Amino acid sequence: MRTEYETLLIETTEPHVVVVTLNRPERRNAFNTQMGLDLAAFFREVYVDPEDVRCIIITGYGTKAFCAGADLKERDGMTTDQWASQHAVFEQMTLAMMDCSVPIIAAVNGAAFGGGCELALGADFIYAATSARFAQTETRLGIMPGAGGTQQLPRAVGVRRAKELILTAEPFMAQQAYEWGMANQVCDDESLMDEALAAARKIAANAPIAVRQAKKSVGIAMQTDLKTGYAFEIEAYNRMVSTEDRMEGVRAFNEKRKPDFKGR
Ligand code: COA
Repeated sequence: MRTEYETLLIETTEPHVVVVTLNRPERRNAFNTQMGLDLAAFFREVYVDPEDVRCIIITGYGTKAFCAGADLKERDGMTTDQWASQHAVFEQMTLAMMDCSVPIIAAVNGAAFGGGCELALGADFIYAATSARFAQTETRLGIMPGAGGTQQLPRAVGVRRAKELILTAEPFMAQQAYEWGMANQVCDDESLMDEALAAARKIAANAPIAVRQAKKSVGIAMQTDLKTGYAFEIEAYNRMVSTEDRMEGVRAFNEKRKPDFKGR
């Protein structure tokens, strides 16, 4: 897996867990075009070959921001064509993240505004620092969310709350995100990464194919009717029946030991 990116730090601090840190602190980790290209490339690589990666944590460098959305300095004065082609890059980034087979945890350690809020919503779940703030600010800037926000936020907090947040562009705190079902956990600022790593460790200890198939199946749940979704679940389930890990999981239970999953 490629680990050198202009705008991202990619670290494997423990087996099977990759921490992706958005690394433009001087701009509050805002996305420039390069960061869009880098994230799209990273998620595409994981799609093609997850290697031994079993969980990804995405966070922002420093303590001030997770991600301040699109880089408004870079965007200042862009022509229509320049804007559209940059947005196409952000669309590719968003789609590549949606297609990521490996679970993604967003560890939101500060402001997650605009595209930063959408990036957090693009993860499978969010752990937020107490001091984290979220906002879909776009309508205040003459635009609207374009990295999945109008689709992800209603799924997270309900249609009416999502409309209020997107149409007013008002910020909200980690605790509100938690109460509305958008963040799974609010953590002390200092322990955010430890808590995210603890969750990642639990995911990484489980059978990788089972985790990836379950993620895919849950992803279908809100997009289809029950019986079609269940038909998908059965197909996803069948993929595991012939795996060594299925044998190992049951054997380990009966031998009263921890399973040693290989992803096969
Ligand atoms: N694009 C480019 N630069 C940005 C940025 C962005 N989205 N967000 C912050 N910065 C820059 C600021 O311009 C400032 O640079 P300067 O020191 O050269 O003036 C620096 O980062 C620090 O920003 P500041 O606002 O002082 O930090 P803060 O910690 O008080 O607030 C935010 C952080 C993210 C809440 C605030 O910067 C903000 O609202 N940014 C815009 C977010 C947004 O609406 N994004 C949507 C884009 S579509």
